[in-house]
Amino acid sequence: LSRRPPVADPFALVADDLAPFVDDIKKQVDSRNPILSTAAKHFFETAQGKRFRPTVVALLSRALPPAVRTDNATEAALVAERQRQLGQITEMIHVASLIHDDVLDDADTRRGGDAIHKMFSNKVAVLSGDYLLARASVMLARLANMEVVEVMAKALDSLVSGEIMQIKTTQAAAKKKGDADELSKLRTREVKPTLYARAQRAFQLSSSHFKNYGIAAPQLGSLPKSDDDAHDEEMQLYLRKSYYKTASLICDACKSTALLAGYDFESSIASASEEFGYHLGLAFQIIDDVLDFAENSEDLGKPAGADLSLGLATAPILYAAQEFPELRPLIDRRFKGAGDVTKAYNLVRQSSGLRLATKLAHFHAQSAVNALCKAAPPSPARDALVSLCYVVLTRKK
Ligand code: FPP
Ligand code: FPP
Ligand code: MG
Ligand code: MG
Repeated sequence: LSRRPPVADPFALVADDLAPFVDDIKKQVDSRNPILSTAAKHFFETAQGKRFRPTVVALLSRALPPAVRTDNATEAALVAERQRQLGQITEMIHVASLIHDDVLDDADTRRGGDAIHKMFSNKVAVLSGDYLLARASVMLARLANMEVVEVMAKALDSLVSGEIMQIKTTQAAAKKKGDADELSKLRTREVKPTLYARAQRAFQLSSSHFKNYGIAAPQLGSLPKSDDDAHDEEMQLYLRKSYYKTASLICDACKSTALLAGYDFESSIASASEEFGYHLGLAFQIIDDVLDFAENSEDLGKPAGADLSLGLATAPILYAAQEFPELRPLIDRRFKGAGDVTKAYNLVRQSSGLRLATKLAHFHAQSAVNALCKAAPPSPARDALVSLCYVVLTRKK
C-alpha cells in the first residue's frame, strides 16, 4: 500500500456493471405513493453518492475464484446476477440509513443537496427510509439464501446498534457529572457477545499495530492508571461503534458475496472476504474522523469539528488525550463546557493524534489488503480493490 496503487480508478472497472442500477432501483421502489417513491429514488438518480459499497461488492464478485468448477454458463450468470442484486440491496440499506440518520442528526444537507427531510418533511423521510428498507428486505429474501439473509439482517442490527451506542454515550456523558456508574454501566451494557466479538478483536489488533509501526504502545503507568483505563475503554468503545456504524455493512456484504458465490459459511474464503470488508470499513471510518479535523484547517475561527460538537470522541482525540491529559475532562463532559470544542480542536491539531489515527487507518487498510490476498488470486478486479484501499487512505473528502 505504500507504493503506487495498481489501478488508477478502481471505480471504472465495474462502472458498466452498475449502470443498470438506476433503472432497477426505480422498478424496485415504484410505490403507489408518488412522494414516497420520489423521495426514495432521489438518492439513486439525482444524488448518487460514491456508490462505494456496490462497487466493492461488484469488484469482489469478480475477484473471488469460482467456488465450484462449472462449465455451466447459466449457473455462473445466475450467481453473478444474485451478487449484483446484493450490491443493490447493500446500497438501498445504506441510503435508508442515511435518510434516517439525517433526521436523527438534524442535518440539512446530504450529498451536496438538501436532505430528504428538508426536501419534504420528517414524516416522508421516516417513511421513505422504511420503505427502502422494506424493498431491500424483499429483494434479500428473493435471493433465497438463508445464510445471506441472516448475515445481512445482522448488518441491519449492527447499524441500529451503532446508532444507539452513539446516542447512549452522548446522553450518558451529559449525566456523568457525579454519576460515573451510569456511564460504566452503559459501556459494559449487555449486548449479544457474538456481535461484539469481532469488534473486540479490533482493539487487540490495533494494539498490535503499534508494534508493527514501531510506535510506543499506550504505556500503562506512564500516566495515572485511571487515565489509561479511560483511554483503553474509550478506544474500545470507539472501535466497536465504528464497526457497527460503518464496517458492518461492508463486511457483511463481502461475506455475503462469497456465500452467493457458493462458499461455505465457515470456509476460509468467506472468512477472508469478511475480514477484508471489516478492515476496509474501519480504515474508512478512521480516516473520516481524521478528516473531520483536517477539513476545517482553513478557518480556525469558527467552531471546528462536527464530531466534537456532537460530543463524539474519535481516534484523533483519544490519542491526543494521551499526550495532553487536560483533554480528558473535556472528553468526559463531551465538549459541552464553554470553549471546549475550540480548545479540543486546537489541542488535537497540536498533538500527534491525527498522525497516530492515520497510522491506525493505514494498519487497517493494509490488513484489508492482506485479507483480500488470502481470498482472491491476482486479477484486475483484485488490483482495483487494492486501489480502493489506497483511495480510502488518501481521500480528501
Ligand atoms: C456516508 O457514507 C457516511 C457514512 C456511512 C460514514 C462512513 C463513511 C465514510 C467513512 C466515507 C466513505 C469513504 C469513501 C472513500 C467512499 P458514504 O460516505 O459512503 O456516503 P455516500 O454514499 O453518500 O457516498
Ligand atoms: C452516518 O453516520 C450514518 C450511519 C452510518 C448509519 C445510521 C443508522 C441508522 C440511522 C439506523 C437506522 C438504520 C436503517 C437501516 C434504517 P454519521 O452521522 O456519522 O455520518 P454523516 O456525516 O454522513 O451523517
Ligand atoms: Mg449524520
Ligand atoms: Mg449520525
